Amino acid sequence: MMAAPEPVLAHNLDKQTLVCLRTLTEPQPRSLETYQKLGGYEQLKRIVTGKVKATDIISQVKLSGLRGRGGAGFPTGLKWSFMPRYFDGIKYLVCNTDEGEPGTFKDRDIIRYNPHQLIEGMAIAAYTLGTRVGYNYIHGEIWQDYKIFEAALAEARKAGFIGENLFGTDFSFDLYAVHGYGAYICGEETALIESIEGKKGQPRFKPPFPASYGVFGKPTTVNNTESFTSIPWILQHGGQAFLELGVANSGGSKIFSVSGHVEKPGNYEVRMGTPFAELLELAGGVWKGRQLKAVIPGGPSTAVMPASAIIGATMDYDGLSKAGSSLGAGSMIVMDETTCMVKTLKRLSYFFFEESCGQCTPCREGTGWLYRVVKRIVDGKGRMEDLDLLTDVSANISGRTICALGDAAATPVLSFVKHFRPEFEYYIQHGKSMLDGK
Ligand SMILES: Cc1cc2nc3c(=O)[nH]c(=O)nc-3n(C[C@H](O)[C@H](O)[C@H](O)COP(=O)(O)O)c2cc1C
Ligand code: SF4
Repeated sequence: MMAAPEPVLAHNLDKQTLVCLRTLTEPQPRSLETYQKLGGYEQLKRIVTGKVKATDIISQVKLSGLRGRGGAGFPTGLKWSFMPRYFDGIKYLVCNTDEGEPGTFKDRDIIRYNPHQLIEGMAIAAYTLGTRVGYNYIHGEIWQDYKIFEAALAEARKAGFIGENLFGTDFSFDLYAVHGYGAYICGEETALIESIEGKKGQPRFKPPFPASYGVFGKPTTVNNTESFTSIPWILQHGGQAFLELGVANSGGSKIFSVSGHVEKPGNYEVRMGTPFAELLELAGGVWKGRQLKAVIPGGPSTAVMPASAIIGATMDYDGLSKAGSSLGAGSMIVMDETTCMVKTLKRLSYFFFEESCGQCTPCREGTGWLYRVVKRIVDGKGRMEDLDLLTDVSANISGRTICALGDAAATPVLSFVKHFRPEFEYYIQHGKSMLDGK
């Protein structure tokens, strides 16, 4: 069996402005020694020993324009301000390293290459939010990364960066790795909380939100791995400097996981607002000298874009929304001219059908229905009215479910049919793809 290729990790930032992958340029990126050489854990020490006020930290995070990197883009500083400050009892902090969506692979590389910055970010968040216990929920299929994180936790504990009475103060914080179950739905924050509690990973109704009713019914803040990892940099350089790395409404840098038909798939940390064309070029361009056909810019739960719509777009929240899609988790899937959009949609709709937790009827039944209709087209038994049926079923899932997986399942169907309808019509009329035999 061939060994898996080394991941490509690249950036268009200099050493000072690299945020989450800043240890990359060093020979032993994930060691505690390397992280400390780059100023690691100094922000935690400054904050804890200087008794920096929680409100001042939250102000810097708000100023930075950091928006949650898990997909929804919710402002992190604002989320932190929802956590009850004077709560008589335990509160929890949770990191979401589930990343189960196809094309999403940035958080595991943060753990592989810069785990201490994540630990420091979580410890600073714990101090700010008044939590003594944290969990990092790591996707069940990435055993090696789980072990790497456990090793980093042991190093941090031994060096006195997590544990009891940090830096001789009364602040204590302990952090545990939780081995996830390998289901996409366990990335949804309330399903993840249920899973931490040892139950089946199924989303809860919201409200109540985790800030008031989270792990074991206690106030909880859940953030994505990349969100927490950005925190030490923000506090070292100031919220304004982070904001200025990006563009209005999208502060900072962002890791894009680029996959599909490019010469150099991998993780790329770039400034928010980087033109799509520049990111594509960093990834070596479309492979084999072929033409670009379409891109899913933020993961399968974001709308597919034809080449003409994405080519002039910038990679930030507003840029992609203006161009007709969204940033999601930054999982950019590139498709060349040989890609059959009908077969691609079949694969994506199978994923959502397979991963639906089954709690709500529109999602449980609707995702299966969508998959079966697309499969019927691929099997050469499609009918022209199936295209309207797909749109109709999708519209009846969206907004009618407990969690956003239902909307996520509808998005590819609606956008594929909208942008590539003639390709679907050809498939139905001829019983085969217009690319077959090419
Ligand atoms: C089906 C589904 C899967 C999700 N998977 C992830 C995931 O793997 N990682 C993640 O950080 N957020 C995921 N989310 C979003 C989380 O519910 C939550 O918004 C996020 O962890 C909050 O962190 P952030 O504000 O830092 O982005 C998922 C949401 C849904 C609906
Ligand atoms: S939308 Fe789907 S995945 Fe989410 S709770 Fe309902 S059935 Fe489960």
